[in-house]
Amino acid sequence: LKVGLAGLGTVGAAVARELSVKSELLAERSGRSIEVVAVSARDKNKDRGISLEGIEWFENAVALAESPDVDVVAELIGGSDGIAFDVVKTALERGRHVVTANKALVALHGVEIASIADEKGVALNYEAAVAGGIPVIKALREGLVVNRISRVFGILNGTCNYILTNMEATKRPFTDVLKEAQDLGYAEADPTFDVDGIDAAHKLSILAALAFGARVDFDGVYCEGIRRIAPVDFEYAAQFGYRIKLLAIAENSEDGVIQRVHPCIVPINTPIADVNGVSNAVIAEGDAVGQTVYEGPGAGDGPTASAVIADIVDIARGLIQPAFMRPASRLAPLQRGDLSQRVGAFYLRLGVLDRPGVIAKVTQVLAEQEISIGSFVQRGVTEDGAVNVVIMTHTTTEAAFGRALSAIESLSEVVEKPCKIRVEDF
Ligand code: NAP
Ligand code: HSE
Repeated sequence: LKVGLAGLGTVGAAVARELSVKSELLAERSGRSIEVVAVSARDKNKDRGISLEGIEWFENAVALAESPDVDVVAELIGGSDGIAFDVVKTALERGRHVVTANKALVALHGVEIASIADEKGVALNYEAAVAGGIPVIKALREGLVVNRISRVFGILNGTCNYILTNMEATKRPFTDVLKEAQDLGYAEADPTFDVDGIDAAHKLSILAALAFGARVDFDGVYCEGIRRIAPVDFEYAAQFGYRIKLLAIAENSEDGVIQRVHPCIVPINTPIADVNGVSNAVIAEGDAVGQTVYEGPGAGDGPTASAVIADIVDIARGLIQPAFMRPASRLAPLQRGDLSQRVGAFYLRLGVLDRPGVIAKVTQVLAEQEISIGSFVQRGVTEDGAVNVVIMTHTTTEAAFGRALSAIESLSEVVEKPCKIRVEDF
């Protein structure tokens, strides 16, 4: 099986290395030899720690996708549009199998490219696009095929989990820990995709399409990132018995599927609270199987290459199946649920002026929305002279909490943008 690698960065170079070092093992396991015959990247002279001897170099990755000498194009460049999209579309139109690690591309153009793959009878495999080294696409597409999935959720961004874990453990600032995650090759080319929750939303929309048998609906994902989380939030959360995680959740509700990505506080004694560092976890709940849990490294060269190569080996073994479990033409639009009806508790940190009557005003607003307070802490003075007030509410609706938050934000004594975190008790 002749493979062309478009992109030789963190992931592409690791794929080239593993395919070369494990060539005999892979030939035994797939029944066919797998060989990299073509590569493309921007800089031909960059030292990538791999030998490119005897491999054709393409200045233009689209020309690689057009090459008749290539059976499988692995798109490992990134980005939802531009060159990555052109490479994938061209390869599929020419009847080449495609493997990609590009969640942005699959989230935004998944159905369009899956239609071309269906028409040409070739594979569009994207295991590495979701949860790095964890074979969760395979689990949903194959292992859980008989199940109606009611909920799929988890930790889908390794960079954010790395940042949150290390901010909590070492009390270092956000920017330092982000830099470390970038140096380790975890972050996207534009790390705002990681920290603003967009990368997790891309991945969630792909999982939801598979889980609920619908078109990918990235625009339907409610998305909040981790920028507003301050070191002090980890201390308060711990005091209440919680830990902070960025979770991605897609679940069936009465009126449709709610997809959301946002920071959550989860009880310290739950398994998801113990998923640390670059690890990801995915939990899928099916009617036949019950709850299944998958955990492992969610980013980085080796884990991602492991998933890309599994996709290539599927093709070598002749396992060609529709990208989203059924032909793209039979995927209906995802029916969206109404997030405002979600019921849950909230953590709310406010920076308020230390004046008589302020707490009374805040609690009055909550009472007007029939939101009951579970716990309350006032402690310390922030740098600008405000005091931190942290409230844990009892269960309420998103709509009621949203109204209360707007009213609280408009109080003149509230001098910082509040930090709200949803409580998830799985
Ligand atoms: P990266 O290190 O930035 O590598 C990107 C590669 O694409 C580089 O080799 C670059 O060439 C090449 N490239 C850029 N523009 C090109 C063009 N116009 N023509 C040909 N090649 C071009 O990125 P990465 O971390 O490997 O990520 C690649 C993909 O995998 C992305 O879709 C990412 O979301 C996904 N992914 C990454 C991880 C991870 O942990 N890193 C995990 C899962 C999925 P030069 O090297 O010459 O600059
Ligand atoms: N930037 C992504 C992450 C890479 O941190 O999870 C893996 O998809």
